[in-house]
Amino acid sequence: MLVTQQRVLRRFWHAVIPMSHLADGPKPFTLLGERIVLWKDDSGAPAAVRDRCCHRTARLSKGWVTNGEIVCGYHGWTYDRTGRCTRVPQAADQASPTGICVSSYHCEERYGYAWVCLDSPLTGIPDFPEARDPVFRQIDEFYELWQCGALRLMENSFDNAHFSFVHQNSFGKANHPKPSSAEIIPFEDGFHFHTVVPVKNPEGLRKALGTEEAETVRTMSNTWWIPFIRKLRIAYPHGLVHTIVTCATPIDDHSIQVVQFVFRNDTEEQVKAEDVIAFDRVVTAEDRGILEATDADTPIDLSRRAEMHMASDRPGLIMRQRLMELFEKHGETEVCHPAPVAG
Ligand code: FES
Ligand SMILES: [Fe+2]
Repeated sequence: MLVTQQRVLRRFWHAVIPMSHLADGPKPFTLLGERIVLWKDDSGAPAAVRDRCCHRTARLSKGWVTNGEIVCGYHGWTYDRTGRCTRVPQAADQASPTGICVSSYHCEERYGYAWVCLDSPLTGIPDFPEARDPVFRQIDEFYELWQCGALRLMENSFDNAHFSFVHQNSFGKANHPKPSSAEIIPFEDGFHFHTVVPVKNPEGLRKALGTEEAETVRTMSNTWWIPFIRKLRIAYPHGLVHTIVTCATPIDDHSIQVVQFVFRNDTEEQVKAEDVIAFDRVVTAEDRGILEATDADTPIDLSRRAEMHMASDRPGLIMRQRLMELFEKHGETEVCHPAPVAG
């Protein structure tokens, strides 16, 4: 699946950048092949417009922010969060420029990240109740560029057949290759997936779980939101709930920005955030190693049965079916970008 060829993906929210990265000025990002620039407006809210000045095409991300508006670093033309040009310094004695604009995008802060939707949103940003539950703390884990397709990371997140292989040096039990049975419950924007998996708890990784047991059990409730967000709630017998949010934010057809944070019902005194991150880094690096060795052009052709012959491939199959339905329904969607108006 080439994400840039499916225009409807522009109508979903994607986690793009930690708000903390915007503290020292505008930052560029490429989302679904579109170059955008993000900054903080005068209220502290994130803003996003096309990263291309409509004067002489300079990247606005090379500029700076003044009074919550972005200033082009080439000749100083200034734009507000709607993309409207508010100032042309070379004609500052004239009335405000009219009709000069760059494309702007829906942009909101949630969970400490700037989220962007390039066109009119079809759904909202997924709600994670843990974020407002005082029992949970949030730990920001990874903000990494991976060379793989977004759908590959999503299907991997629901593929219980890989634990005994990809994760055999961490939590996977090499002698238990047959995945546990799972229940899948669809809802409008995705599906829930429930399963129970016995896992290893190797010595070097026990700190992160806060238990010394050599083996334990994961009761997993995993949720997929169309197209590229999942939340994996893992409950352990000793009471720990480790909930991982992973966004495979599509940069282009072959690369993603992995945005991952967790919610935990323990405290920093019980388990240090750095130990939590160290554990998930080991596991995530194992996934990354194999996913970057897959074909990023994920086939969405449902007739290609070789990719879905096992019961554990069913979540991936359902993802593709749901995406196919989406693409068919919105296949003719025409997205209009206002042409830049010459100054
Ligand atoms: S290119 Fe941006 S102000 Fe000239
Ligand atoms: Fe994995």
